[in-house]
This record gives sequence, C-alpha cells and structure tokens, in this order.
Amino acid sequence: MEIRVVENTKNIESDILVINMFEECQTSNDLANQYAIDEDGFKGKFGETYLLPTYGKEPYRKVLILGLGKKEEFNPNKLREAVAKAIKKAMQMEAKKVAFSLDGIEFDYSEQFTMGALIADYKFDKYKSEKKDNGVKEVYVQANPALVNKAEIIATAMSFARNLSNEPAQFATPEELAAIACDLGLETKIYDKEECEKMGMGAFLAVGRASIHEPKFIHMKYQVDNPKKRIAIIGKGICFDSGGLDIKPASSMATMKDDMSGAAAVLGIMSVIKEFHPQVEVHGIIAACENMPGGKAYKPGDILTAKNGKTIEVDNTDAEGRLTLADALCYACELGVDEVIDMATLTGACMVALGTQAAGIMGNDEELIRNLISTAERSGERFWQLPLWEEYFDGLKSEVADMKNSGNRWGGASSAGVFLQKFVKDVKWAHIDIAGTAFLEKPQKELIAGGTGAGVRTLLNYILEQ
Ligand code: BES
Ligand code: MN
Ligand code: ZN
Repeated sequence: MEIRVVENTKNIESDILVINMFEECQTSNDLANQYAIDEDGFKGKFGETYLLPTYGKEPYRKVLILGLGKKEEFNPNKLREAVAKAIKKAMQMEAKKVAFSLDGIEFDYSEQFTMGALIADYKFDKYKSEKKDNGVKEVYVQANPALVNKAEIIATAMSFARNLSNEPAQFATPEELAAIACDLGLETKIYDKEECEKMGMGAFLAVGRASIHEPKFIHMKYQVDNPKKRIAIIGKGICFDSGGLDIKPASSMATMKDDMSGAAAVLGIMSVIKEFHPQVEVHGIIAACENMPGGKAYKPGDILTAKNGKTIEVDNTDAEGRLTLADALCYACELGVDEVIDMATLTGACMVALGTQAAGIMGNDEELIRNLISTAERSGERFWQLPLWEEYFDGLKSEVADMKNSGNRWGGASSAGVFLQKFVKDVKWAHIDIAGTAFLEKPQKELIAGGTGAGVRTLLNYILEQ
C-alpha cells in the first residue's frame, strides 16, 4: 500500500472517498447528511460505517462514512483504529484506490492515520498457494508528509517483526535469526556455542542443548558519535518452546513458534533504525535457541552457572526464557549502557493477569518505567506496571543453589521479574512481558490474528524521543 499526500482528496479519482463523522454531528458532505443521517438515522458511533453510491457524479465511486464516536473522546489512537476499520471495509469491497477526507482532524494525527492504514494492510500469505489480491493499493490523504514518512518506517518495522513471529519454527531457527541480523547492515557479532561457553553463558546454553539447531547469541550495534544515550534492547529468542522435558500440553504448545517475538521486535527495530539516524547508541541483543526435550536436554534438578557466576537450580525446564535472558542481561550490563530494556513472551501468568490488551512492565527505575508507559500509550500500545517486590523471590529460594528458576505458582509474572533482576547490575532496567500481546488468536482492533509486532512501535518511539 502506498500513502499519497495530496492537497485535495475530493478531486481524486478513487473507488471510495472516506469521510469522517463524529457521533450525532453533521458531515462535510451534503449527500451523506441527507441520506445517511436524516433518512436512515446513521449516528456515527465509533467504528460504524455507512456506504453511499455516487452514480458517476463524483470522481469517487462511493462515499464511506466512518463513525468516529464522540468528539470529546476522540484522540489519535481512536483515529488509527477507525482508519483500520475503513481499510478493512475497503478490502472487502476490493477497492484499490481509497481517498480520505479528514475534515476537522489535526495534521498531528497523520502519524496514527498512517499507522492504522498500514497495520490493517498487513497479511501473512506467503505459504498460501492461492493468494488473494484484495489489498488497497493507494491511499490518498491530506496529511503531514514527515509524520506519514515516520509512520511508514515504523509500520515496516512492525511488519518485519510480525512476519518473523508468524514464520514457522521450522524456518525461523536460531541460525536464521542470526543470518537475518547479519543482513541488516549494522555492525553485528554472532557468538556460536563455543564462544558462548567461553563467555560462561551456562544458563542460555543449557536451554538450547537438546535442539538440532545450534544456539546463536546475536549482538547488533547502531552507533553514532557522541550519543546522547546508550540503550540495549534484548529480545527473548526461543525459536520454539516445547517446554523441554517438562513438556507442555498440546494446547499450550500450539502457538510456541511465537516465543521469539521479543527477538522479532528487536530485529524489526534494528532493521529500520538507521533510517531515523537517532543520536542514541542502540544495541540489539538476542540469545536465540530452541527449548526441546531429548537425550541431551537439561533436566529438573540440574544446577546451571550463569555468566555472572550465579548458580540456578532448574525447577522447571519450561521456565527457560528467564535462563536465556539471565545471560543476555549479564552481557548487556557489561556494555556500559545507560539503560537495558528487555522484551519477552515470558509468562502465561502475565497473560492471565492482563489478557491480550496490555504488556506487563517492571524494572528498577520508576522514571524509565513511567516514560515507557507513556510512550506506549502514545504509540498505540498498552504497558501496565506490575510490582517487583523482593518478597516475590521467596518462592525462588533454593536449598542447593543461589536460586531456582521457578517455584511458587502465584504472581508468576513478578517472580519471573525478580529472577531477571538478579542478573541486572548497575544499570537502569525495564522488563516488558509481552506474552499476552505478541501473538493474537483472534483479531483485535487494527491487528489480525497472529504476530502483532508487540513492542516495536513503542520502543522505536522511545528511542526517537531521546
Ligand atoms: N513462553 C512461555 C510463556 C508464554 C505462555 C508465552 C503463553 C505466551 C503465551 C514461557 O517460557 C513459559 O513456559 N512459562 C511458564 C513458566 C512456569 C513454568 C514457571 C508459564 O508461564 O507457565
Ligand atoms: Mn516455557
Ligand atoms: Zn518460553
């Protein structure tokens, strides 16, 4: 889909002209006011649409009235969602050219307008032998070109991440993630198994041991002279989570190709970062491996030594993400960065607590957490803070090692958080649990089912705001 910024969308020959309508208000179009509102009682409730033909009398073949809901409740997030609805509708009608007339809507809204159109346009059909060509090809709008351009780049990064989350685990292997990282045109170092052994990454390597795919530790760097800040972003990169010897039931395993969605978000972000040339140094870090059962698998009761020398008794091989992140966090903390942010499909408990509507956020710095929550809100995502009280560690105490990797069933998202904190040293750190938001079983707002690119928009905006 191409977004074309023009002076007047009403002159454009198009399949549909979308006009907006606030609830119980008039539109800018006389025909719409007469037929839809006066005769048919169309109210313009949020997300509702009404279609009118123009019988060849206008350059546009049809008018689609898009309800924006109550004017006082309107904001850029609402616009994004509504635009996505209009695009979906246009796709059903097999419209190719869609013009939007955004009367009364500020130019600042151009970013979320574009996000809505491009996120709605996404599909994952590479494995369909028959592809439907029902996409909207051109969107015309009066908008701020710089914001449209910014949103186009962010949406590209999201699609990149969504593609990776949707990619079956048979293809999206640790080697493949490493190869993708190397193709991004950044300074990238891939550590193989032997190098990870030398670095002392005993927790990460244990998780990946039973897979036929070798683990890969990926470090991408975006560098600038005199950066205003140095940030490391870490993505959980479990290419498939079978649970290991503590194997998952089939229903829980079904979507576990998505357990590298944190890594997908990091790769998505790093794939576009150069285009924004932010004055921030950004490190993208992924400990990529597969959690499998088998003769070589790590076992409950094993004691692992992480990169920082701490020992971990394996209580449950399905609590593998925190083990890989432990070594990744140690590595990131040694880079001398100002902030470390990790994104991980870490706990079912976070999904139980917040559903698919919000990611859980925790960390050791309230200001960093506050800033990320507010950037998320503006970016069209939701982050919700969960506590990180030290008491959550009580259930992780071990008789034989420094800690266990799981324990008490309750408060699972927070106990995973305090576990991670044991591997964070002298740096501001935030942990974002995207277990509920990274992969949808049903469509939600502007997103179709499948990978969502969770974390991409927020973290990119966060980097750009520094
Ligand atoms: N990858 C899962 C978490 C997950 C669950 C992500 C559902 C997305 C949807 C993680 O590795 C896991 O298995 N966590 C366990 C931890 C438990 C064994 C302490 C969980 O949440 O049940
Ligand atoms: Mn698991
Ligand atoms: Zn997992």
